[in-house]
Amino acid sequence: MNDAHNAALLLCFEEDRASAQRIATAAAMDVSIIARHRFPDGELKLRLPSVLPARVVFLRSLDYPNEKLIELLLVARTARTLGAHHVTLVAPYLAYMRQDIAFQPGEVVSQRVVGSFLADLFDAVITVDPHLHRVATLQEAVPVPQAIVLSGAPLLADLIATHHQPSSQRPLLVGPDEESAQWLAQAAASHGFEFGVCRKVRNGDRDVHTTLPDLNVTGRCVVLLDDIASSGHTLAGAARLLLAAGATSVDVAVTHALFAGDALQVIKRAGVGQVWSTDCIAHPTNSVSMAPVIATALSSTLLCQNT
Ligand code: R5P
Repeated sequence: MNDAHNAALLLCFEEDRASAQRIATAAAMDVSIIARHRFPDGELKLRLPSVLPARVVFLRSLDYPNEKLIELLLVARTARTLGAHHVTLVAPYLAYMRQDIAFQPGEVVSQRVVGSFLADLFDAVITVDPHLHRVATLQEAVPVPQAIVLSGAPLLADLIATHHQPSSQRPLLVGPDEESAQWLAQAAASHGFEFGVCRKVRNGDRDVHTTLPDLNVTGRCVVLLDDIASSGHTLAGAARLLLAAGATSVDVAVTHALFAGDALQVIKRAGVGQVWSTDCIAHPTNSVSMAPVIATALSSTLLCQNT
């Protein structure tokens, strides 16, 4: 353990205690819980430790983000009055990144607004597989001095490789839309998997039209890999097509297990076997922990501050 680690404290809310503890153990940091009282009218009263070290890290994955953004505003501003000089946000899932353009006049470009909101609060942001489509870097979306992007794809690829090890057949990775190509390429590279990417047209929240890539899937064990499963319809649509085209099995691996409403049933009803996810969002399908990777990134952020 070094001085930078000794000085840094990881802060989280009670519901994130388990994932904070995994990261803190890997990064050799201490954890403190932020106390929360909710008034009858919904307002919040939050309490941090009364004295904070110079370096503070907040862990908050931003699924169901709206109230969490207000919490971050309250605690990040307060942290600086309690002694913190360098405040990092670890948001394994970073919300609002998909709304990166105004499709109609007057539409809010939420990525830009939420990005600058976070940049006003934090010195560093660490996240996993943010949905950056029309911007090249996280720093363009969240203009903080240190904007660090990690990926769940290599770890999911390891899991897929282990799962398929007993069989002589190599799995075929398929991305359900063009935007998934970046994660497919990373996952495929680490194990030499063959892969292809579908084309998708979205007509509504739960209405997507998918076209399979020009690949022979007959008799293949396919794994659909994507960053996010939200309504589940993107994965379900691709799974149905793959099975109809002769795939032996279709499993699913995602970084962010949003699984809104009945998403998991939608995916299962489409004929999907295994569903795996990282622990960026706590969910029963979590099969891969990002804690060691996040801990390494935290160490470099904190060391960077120390030099
Ligand atoms: C968007 O392109 C993302 O990569 C996901 O494919 C999308 O968010 C999944 O949404 P849903 O599960 O609602 O179809």
